[in-house]
Amino acid sequence: MCGIVGYIGDKNAAPILLEGLSKLEYRGYDSAGIAVAENGKVQLHKAVGKLENLIKKTDGGKKMTETIGIGHTRWATHGKPTENNAHPHAANRFTLVHNGIIENEAALRKHYLEGVKFNSDTDTEVIVHLLEKFVKEDKDVKVAIAHIIGELEGSFALAIIDKEDMNTIYAVKNKSPLLVGKGDGFNMIGSDAMAMIANTDTFYEIHDKEFAVITRDSIEIFTSYAKKVERDSFHAEIDVSDTEKGTYPHFMLKEIEEQPLVIRRIMQQYSDEDGNLVVDKDIIKDIKASDRIYIIACGTSYHAGLVGQTYIEQLAKIPTMSYIASEFVHNMPLLSKKPFFIFISQSGETADSRAVLVKVKEMGHKCLTITNVKGSTLSREADHTMILHAGPEIAVASTKAYTAQMAVLAVLANALSDNPMNLKYELAKTATVMESLCNNRELFHELSKEFFATTRNCFYIGRSTDYYICLEAALKIKEISYIQAEGFAAGELKHGTIALIEKDTPVVAFITREAVNLNTRSNIKEVRSRGAKVLTISLKRISAHSDQIVIGDVDEMFAPLVSALPMQYLAYYAALIRGCDIDKPRNLAKSVTVE
Ligand code: G6P
Repeated sequence: MCGIVGYIGDKNAAPILLEGLSKLEYRGYDSAGIAVAENGKVQLHKAVGKLENLIKKTDGGKKMTETIGIGHTRWATHGKPTENNAHPHAANRFTLVHNGIIENEAALRKHYLEGVKFNSDTDTEVIVHLLEKFVKEDKDVKVAIAHIIGELEGSFALAIIDKEDMNTIYAVKNKSPLLVGKGDGFNMIGSDAMAMIANTDTFYEIHDKEFAVITRDSIEIFTSYAKKVERDSFHAEIDVSDTEKGTYPHFMLKEIEEQPLVIRRIMQQYSDEDGNLVVDKDIIKDIKASDRIYIIACGTSYHAGLVGQTYIEQLAKIPTMSYIASEFVHNMPLLSKKPFFIFISQSGETADSRAVLVKVKEMGHKCLTITNVKGSTLSREADHTMILHAGPEIAVASTKAYTAQMAVLAVLANALSDNPMNLKYELAKTATVMESLCNNRELFHELSKEFFATTRNCFYIGRSTDYYICLEAALKIKEISYIQAEGFAAGELKHGTIALIEKDTPVVAFITREAVNLNTRSNIKEVRSRGAKVLTISLKRISAHSDQIVIGDVDEMFAPLVSALPMQYLAYYAALIRGCDIDKPRNLAKSVTVE
């Protein structure tokens, strides 16, 4: 969702802002804009649709000369994606961009801004008018910003410039992500490190309800009482090349094929000096002191949680349930006496998951966040963190973070076990089988042509952990190819949904568990008799001659990690054949920072 970049230094700001915004495209957006300033004049440039449109409109900012500016990609919440609603928004003196939602905007308008003329439908415009008003009353920008923080309810990351002081950018943060980047002779702000990594690898966090005052050569952070705080900087471990596609046509394909490498990296990162896979002792102690684990996540991360739950129950013998965060928060089950919470989130910023985290922390429960982003909100606010080490995932549709989540959950489950397995051996085998699947991508391309080129709908069926893969497979193909898809427990199909099967309806069946092999194959016969066109994906040792995709043998437990690849490839090629925007599908955001 919305992305923010800001720059103050001695270079032309516009190209740096546009480049930074391009690194935030993955978050999802539907319009973009920049504001650059010089000699008391602020120029606004906005465009609807892809960032490309703004780049064309401004000629890449090449002819501009302003050395201070802020930029924004907007994912519409209040008002349609029009130029008027695109950020930055300006009042008389201040110009700002905003990521988040102001929940009390109606009350603020009524209480403070009666008679003020608004130019957009956004909640953001309320902030800029409020700032204008408070500065007049408070006579000091810092005091007025602290005042604003006290008044606004909801989530807000803000970048603000002031026509009367062209040497300063103000950054404000509450619940939405925002980092300050420290440079030599310049400073930056951005929604994440990737937006700034081409310029600097040194960053400062701003905590919730804090603000920063940034000039070319100084960064000061203040509390909401305008009291200065001291903060250490940190270095982000991002390789600039990780944020580029390289020779791949799409980030999604690159990220699918990075999966063997990611599994090996996880093995390396979680190994102790003797080469054993280990987990922080404090995490193990806290989990062992609990009587039940609650896994909380959204989307793909929830699907990884379902697989992780079976790992924990089988290996660690601790009762575990996975829940969708947005449901759990308002419909909490009766908790056990000593619950432990695991939050799974690629971005570490998902507002739905955070809402649960805040609630369970208030209740005094311990929790662990499993995330790809060190220092992300969910990581900072949990008692413990385990990092996915998947490297930046740019395509909106999650692939490598998903398998990394399952692998890290396996590492955790095994570390909790009184009778651990040789996980290193199993994961190494898994990575090798993944690699052989990557070498076979043309098969998936051909099958996608046959099954998904024109269909309106499709079904994925499987039992046990294959069912969990079906849920993710359906989500993947929906996200990027817009085919209406459902993932079903194979045995449940006949209880209603089979009514939708017609001649040539594509049904993809996953068969990787011996115990349910014959049951799923019976369900295949049932749909075939009703005209379905069936694509079967199976593990080698239980495969049948007619199965179109046969996956090299791994321990059944790790089959979800390998069967993820064919389903990701099938979705990728379906979207490619249908001419969809694979890395940036319509309406979706990668980092969903509103509830
Ligand atoms: C969005 C993304 C999904 C992702 C979900 C959870 O909906 O489009 O790909 O699975 O958020 O995100 P998280 O960062 O918490 O894993």
